[in-house]
Amino acid sequence: MEYQEIAKPSGPYKNVDPNLVDYAASRADFDWWRDAFAKMDWLPGGGLNNAYEAVDRHVDHGHGDKLAMIWVGKNGEEERYTYSDFKERSDRFGAVMKGLGIERGDRVFIFMDRLPELYFAAMGILKAGGVIAPLFSAFGPEPVKDRIEDAEGRFVITSPELKAKISGIFKDLPSVEKIIIVNKNGRSTEPLDDGDLDYDELMANASSDDFTIENTSQYDFSIMHYTSGSTGKPKGVLHRHQAVVQQWLTGHWALDLKFDDIYFCTADPGWVTGTSYGMMAPWTNGVTQIIYEGGFGANAWYDVIDKYKVTVWYTAPTAIRLLMRAGSKPVEEHSLETLRFIGSVGEPLNPEAVVWGNEHYKMPIHDNWWQTETGAIMCANYASMPVRPGSMGRPFPGITMAVIDDNYEPVALGEAGALAVRPGWPSMMYAYWKKDEMYNSRFKKGWYITGDQASLDEDGFFWFQGRADDVINTAGHLVGPFEVESALIEHPAVAEAGVIGKPDPIAMEVVKAFVTLTPDHEPTPQLQRELIRFSRDKLSAGVAPREIDFIDVMPKTRSGKIMRRLLKARELGLPEGDTSTLEDD
Ligand code: PRX
Repeated sequence: MEYQEIAKPSGPYKNVDPNLVDYAASRADFDWWRDAFAKMDWLPGGGLNNAYEAVDRHVDHGHGDKLAMIWVGKNGEEERYTYSDFKERSDRFGAVMKGLGIERGDRVFIFMDRLPELYFAAMGILKAGGVIAPLFSAFGPEPVKDRIEDAEGRFVITSPELKAKISGIFKDLPSVEKIIIVNKNGRSTEPLDDGDLDYDELMANASSDDFTIENTSQYDFSIMHYTSGSTGKPKGVLHRHQAVVQQWLTGHWALDLKFDDIYFCTADPGWVTGTSYGMMAPWTNGVTQIIYEGGFGANAWYDVIDKYKVTVWYTAPTAIRLLMRAGSKPVEEHSLETLRFIGSVGEPLNPEAVVWGNEHYKMPIHDNWWQTETGAIMCANYASMPVRPGSMGRPFPGITMAVIDDNYEPVALGEAGALAVRPGWPSMMYAYWKKDEMYNSRFKKGWYITGDQASLDEDGFFWFQGRADDVINTAGHLVGPFEVESALIEHPAVAEAGVIGKPDPIAMEVVKAFVTLTPDHEPTPQLQRELIRFSRDKLSAGVAPREIDFIDVMPKTRSGKIMRRLLKARELGLPEGDTSTLEDD
């Protein structure tokens, strides 16, 4: 299996307005990746498939007996799967999907808790040429519907409990042809809804023997994650199979993954960390991964680390702050002696957390930075260098990052500006699904504009300063204020809603809403509670506002846009800044 072709510069920029991108500059960076591309195992005929790289390749190289996954269920169950098991099950699911008529590029939504079947299905879909579209299992019906509708999902894979939570949405989703239900170990005793398909039955009737992996090219679409912006509904970020090159290499260099590692990633595959670093990076590096179905718990997580001898742990600042709050006792009651590397992503990692890690885990926590759009780690504190507490590290080899001003020119060292990256890295998003204009707007004068503010120090370390937009980062999850405002105004008592992120010592920010009421509705504590419940049911507990304030007048610009900046300034008691565009009452 020979490497045949590397990505052509025309590929990554297919959607980009050529006037906005400086091709010559970005091409040089892209060529750097040639060696990494050459190390992939290409399919006969020159194809590249993420699932082959993550699973089958190890079997073909004689490591089929190695453990790929140890699953720890929420009820104490444990299941172990070797790379051969993983190949067999994902081939079988690929055959199931082929049997159902999947075509290349079809979007398959996975709305599931962290069960082994989620991973078999994801790899099977990729092998069959489909695009995985994972959804966070805590979502309520509204976000699930919006995303499936936008992407015109053809298949949905879910569990009985999660299906029950959202069953009302399918009448409005004509694109969905089949729903596959995973009833893990018979946890549900309810019969399937009419027309739904049973995963176990489909798998039993399919054969992995005559399945052949689709010869996807590096340019074929592989995964689509939804991410929030400050305006409009969340947008689908589309990636291609070639992203795997960077996920593999960053797994190795930024997370220090080695073949014998036991790896624990606490992110859910509903978010990009849970796929890029909860599937692709670890398995392409051939490690044994612990999949823990349960949620956060200091003792529970430390138990996992001790019991399974975890060596590399990738988590998030909110979790680390919760662990700090849980204190030294749980740490002292565990050995944690196998741990040798801890990484963190998703929010700023406060320097105190790094210091705490040094004291309690006897090693620093390595912060790194990236986004759904970048598909893989872009800058990091590496195992090979001293950690600079509070910094997100230095760019990954082959990545050019800068802090630029309004004219897209680099600012002076130490000054804050827009964080930007030279386009052309392998895991760069290919598109916002059917939103080309928005996609193009992210590329200016040869830079990809990340939407973050940062500064750069004299040693090349980047420092996060904040977001340039209204997107809320709560516990490492991005929440678009528009999505929350849209849900709130569906309530008859709400006339207008404005949503902001309110600083929080643990979650970094929590969602806070300000609402004006329709006539005949009184601002009572009961209504406050009702609105919180209403938005929780629609969205999810993590996305719904934690606090709601009633206000008499919503501050808006003369063109009618809600001035969230002003709401935030008022909330924090800060100067209101430029209010010249504020609408007169
Ligand atoms: O604002 C930055 C923040 O999270 C955003 C990306 O979120 P998402 O696309 O959901 O991907 C999260 C997982 C990669 C960024 O634009 N962010 C991410 N990492 C860091 C961070 N903020 C500060 N420090 C980080 N290390």
